[in-house]
Amino acid sequence: MAMRIDILTTFPEMFGVESPAALGLSIPARARSRGLIEWHATNLRAFADNKHRKTDDRPFGGGPGMVMMCQPVWDAVHAVEAMDPRPATRVLMTPQGVPLTQPLVEDLARRPRLLIIAGHYEGIDERVIEALSPMEVSLGDYVLSGGELAAMVLIDAVARLIPGALGDDESAGNDSFSAVGPGGERLLDCPHFTRPKDWMGRGVPEVLLSGDHAKVAAWRLEQMRARTRSRRPDLLGPTP
Ligand code: ADE
Repeated sequence: MAMRIDILTTFPEMFGVESPAALGLSIPARARSRGLIEWHATNLRAFADNKHRKTDDRPFGGGPGMVMMCQPVWDAVHAVEAMDPRPATRVLMTPQGVPLTQPLVEDLARRPRLLIIAGHYEGIDERVIEALSPMEVSLGDYVLSGGELAAMVLIDAVARLIPGALGDDESAGNDSFSAVGPGGERLLDCPHFTRPKDWMGRGVPEVLLSGDHAKVAAWRLEQMRARTRSRRPDLLGPTP
């Protein structure tokens, strides 16, 4: 059965499955057409119980920006959850969340159903966050205009891990941050090269032309470790 992802948003058009943007192309689109994953964007506005279909209001205590109201979010979550009997893992995209890392993506890719809340404006009324207790997830230490792009990033990262999403010549196991090596270390990827052998006077590492698969594998692992040491020592943990 296809994994199901619902997105609650005031901009459902951003997730149009026919649109040749973001999730409409490449691996997520292929996983979807293979029936491995499906996603549905639901407009939060449709659940606003006021006549202007307003989903936000001014913040108590004053200040700039608008705050998403509890009621439309609460009602939309329950209405959408009722569309499928499988329990949904609730995820709220927010810069206040836990950082999205490959281990978290792997965890989420194993769940039958996700419900992603894409907030906008200054944020969401804290009371509905408390009442729904979603997993709060951040893409990183910067602020996007809304959670929609963040939700697309999450869906893309999850979709490619679903068995069958990648072709035979593609492998999620070789990606940066995937577990490799005897210790299961998570490393940055190694450099890659393709034809021609000489490009503007620049050659390619000799070992890659040797045809010796064991040597190539050892070289790649060493490159991954060296890159990780120099660019992201934080990934290797404290040095003993
Ligand atoms: N919404 C706005 N900024 C975000 C971020 N950095 N991560 C996730 N969701 C967000």
